[in-house]
Amino acid sequence: MKVQVCIIGGGPSGLLLSQLLHLKGIDTIVLEKHSREHVLARIRAGVLEHGFAALMREARCGERMDREGEIHEGFFIAHDGVMDRVDLHKHSGGSSVVVYGQTELTRDLYEARDRMDGKVVHDAADVTPHDLKSDAPYVTYRDGDRIVRVDCDFVIGADGFHGVSRKSIPKEILREHERVYPFGWLGVLSRTKPVSPELIYSRHERGFALCSLRSQVLSRYYIQVPLTDKVEDWSDEAFWDELKRRLPADVAASLITGPSIEKSIAPLRSFVAEPMRYGRLFLAGDAAHIVPPTGARGLNSAASDIYYLYHAMVDHYEKGDDSGLDDYSRKALARVWKAQRFSWWMTTMLHRFPDSGSYEAKLQETELEYLFSSEKALGSLAENYVGLPF
Ligand code: APR
Ligand code: PHB
Repeated sequence: MKVQVCIIGGGPSGLLLSQLLHLKGIDTIVLEKHSREHVLARIRAGVLEHGFAALMREARCGERMDREGEIHEGFFIAHDGVMDRVDLHKHSGGSSVVVYGQTELTRDLYEARDRMDGKVVHDAADVTPHDLKSDAPYVTYRDGDRIVRVDCDFVIGADGFHGVSRKSIPKEILREHERVYPFGWLGVLSRTKPVSPELIYSRHERGFALCSLRSQVLSRYYIQVPLTDKVEDWSDEAFWDELKRRLPADVAASLITGPSIEKSIAPLRSFVAEPMRYGRLFLAGDAAHIVPPTGARGLNSAASDIYYLYHAMVDHYEKGDDSGLDDYSRKALARVWKAQRFSWWMTTMLHRFPDSGSYEAKLQETELEYLFSSEKALGSLAENYVGLPF
């Protein structure tokens, strides 16, 4: 089989790129290791930058997002018994974010690919890229007993943190930068009315907590937990009790609890792999970088890679101009590192670190005090949260 662009990974990055390129007449195939049900069973963050929302519309996948997603013009930071509001709209010069679950967004992308007869192969086993430094790379995968070969011009590694693409870049070329945080987030999804129409990030001496939502009838809550904790250690009751302890009293009093419909623990990690290009292979999204979820940059960082790659590929095929492809790694990484900095800053300011003492706690308090006393500091937070320009 021959296509122009072979995309490894059918998560949001791979699907969005495939959809955008298809609309420009560029032929792609998406090779996904798992079934569609498996991919759509993952619950992940749900805050989209306005630039990402625009890209979804450009990909003709924005209809349900615009109908069911919620525009949020601010969020709260609870600390020291007070609730301070970050007015995103005011401090970013009129911008906002869209709250729309990643699972729903991925579903919309799959449906769009189906509508356009896009080639998406599920349960593709042993996906392996070959000859990435040549002008004729190819990818093989196993379908039962059969080995299938896909010849292509370019290979896109959009196969997430544990994928095969990054690993096919030689060790002497790839540089990896990593910070692993000494805690995780225990998340609960429940069919209950959210405690607040806007997100609440809470710094508390018992640990961080977040009140988020998917809709006005579906809530998503998180609490910081030690890495040694297991989901089985946490009954629903214990979760709700601990969440309430970490929220201001009036918020805790109005929290509506209910049975969890999903409960999981995610470790927090910051990670960047450089460069994001090796010959004819281009990495995108979680395959190249991971952020802790504080600040909701993960999916948005993936979207900026896709934006740069999409334009670079179109310039290559429509104008024979390779400058976008040649500059991809530098340009993508410049923005990726800004999202890394922002996520690290939010995480550091709001979590309880096991090895920190009163000095670090005082610095966190001062950081928040400064933030809410300075229009410029709020402006910096807001412009990062709604998304820096591509
Ligand atoms: N072969 C084929 N597909 C693979 C392989 C492989 N060897 N390894 C992993 N995959 C698939 C995974 O099953 C998954 O569906 O690649 C996909 C990668 O999807 P994501 O992990 O969701 O990554 P990405 O598409 O870059 O999405 C951006 O940023 O912070 C996050 O929450 C955010 O998940 C979102 C991500
Ligand atoms: C979520 O809704 O899952 C969510 C929202 C904001 C974050 C992280 C996660 O910063």
